[in-house]
Amino acid sequence: TGKVTYDPGFANTANASSAVTYIDGDEGILRYRGYPIEQLAEKSTFVEVSYLLIYGELPTQTQLDEFDARLRRHTIVHEDLRRFFQAFPLDAHPMPMVSAAINAMSTFYQDSLSVFDEEQIDLSTARLLAKMPTIAALAHRKNQGLPVVHPDNSLGLVENFLRVNFGFPSEPYEVDPLKAKALDQLFILHADHEQNCSTSTVRLVGSSQANLYQSIAAGINALSGPLHGGANSAVLEMLEGIKDSDDGAKKYMERVKNKEKGVRLMGFGHRVYKNYDPRAAIIKGTTHDLLEKFGGDDELLDLALSLEEIALADDYFVERRLYPNVDFYTGLIYKAMGFPTNMFTVLFAVGRLPGWIAQWREMIDDPETKIGRPRQIYTGATERGYVPMDERS
Ligand code: CMC
Repeated sequence: TGKVTYDPGFANTANASSAVTYIDGDEGILRYRGYPIEQLAEKSTFVEVSYLLIYGELPTQTQLDEFDARLRRHTIVHEDLRRFFQAFPLDAHPMPMVSAAINAMSTFYQDSLSVFDEEQIDLSTARLLAKMPTIAALAHRKNQGLPVVHPDNSLGLVENFLRVNFGFPSEPYEVDPLKAKALDQLFILHADHEQNCSTSTVRLVGSSQANLYQSIAAGINALSGPLHGGANSAVLEMLEGIKDSDDGAKKYMERVKNKEKGVRLMGFGHRVYKNYDPRAAIIKGTTHDLLEKFGGDDELLDLALSLEEIALADDYFVERRLYPNVDFYTGLIYKAMGFPTNMFTVLFAVGRLPGWIAQWREMIDDPETKIGRPRQIYTGATERGYVPMDERS
């Protein structure tokens, strides 16, 4: 009982106590389990960071080896689940294909659906982490009309991900270590970001004790919107649109500032960061080098740099404290690696998966968790009598 607080977008409402990720938006600080993102991006690996987020500590060598081996064992998806991809339309967007397949995992792996049995949760965790890259690549290959490439479990998670996306069936895949390292680092940067829209969705769905697969599928759908993870492909579409039009960066910025419907500077602004997004800072530092190595589109990078320069000196953006976020540069790198634009948000989902899992597990273990059930401010009609059809106008 008591007063209901109106807080659209939950801008001032904490829905959870969490020990996973710390953000100081004014200072531009991001830490996973206390470790600064800059150190993890430089020194760790995506598999190690996944372990850290989920189990709370950096693994010992033995723990890491066991975890890695477990993930390698679970990369293949059930044949019937693989056949799902034959049924989607050829031009289906990969995000709903991926969320549908992840949701369907709860029909194929019924031995790990308990939300209270730690061993089953560990099994679902391993299955999700190991199969997500395979499922993401199935969506990619389907969308491109390419044959399926099966995982090769002699490869690590990120190397295998490159293989299933870009390799040839039944042929060994030669991993480009630079590409693998760059992708590994991008996954680390995306691995968690406290109570963002998709993570809050995972927690909210999970708070009803829906199983881990179903909760993660909901998170993937939340991520797909252009204001959230979908921004990375929206940035590239924006840059290409500006490049192909006669308008140029300045004119586009005028449209943004005039608040034309649906026109925003994509990849800019953040609910929590009111300073440079530390992830964007790390990526900005490497984008130029990576594009050079992978033969990327420098013209688009130059355009992005000039949009950023205009924005950082413009009152509209300065007053609103809008800075580049993680998505501003990632699309350029993904494109240079050979991923089609509609796969960018799937790459975000692959990276964010360990964070969703860690937050779901924390939620399930927390004795203070209650089913998520927001209140409302009712603005509809007061009570009125039913009107028979022949009396309605
Ligand atoms: N371009 C132009 N104006 C903007 C932008 C932008 N990218 N972002 C915010 N604004 C303006 C907005 O119009 C509003 O102006 P006013 O005060 O005059 O009404 C003000 O800045 C505050 O914006 P808001 O929409 O109230 O802020 P929010 O915290 O609700 O939204 C956001 C945060 C990320 C959704 C928003 O900044 C945005 O739409 N950015 C573009 C999409 C994007 O890059 N999303 C990726 C976010 S980072 C990756 C992730 O976690 O998903």
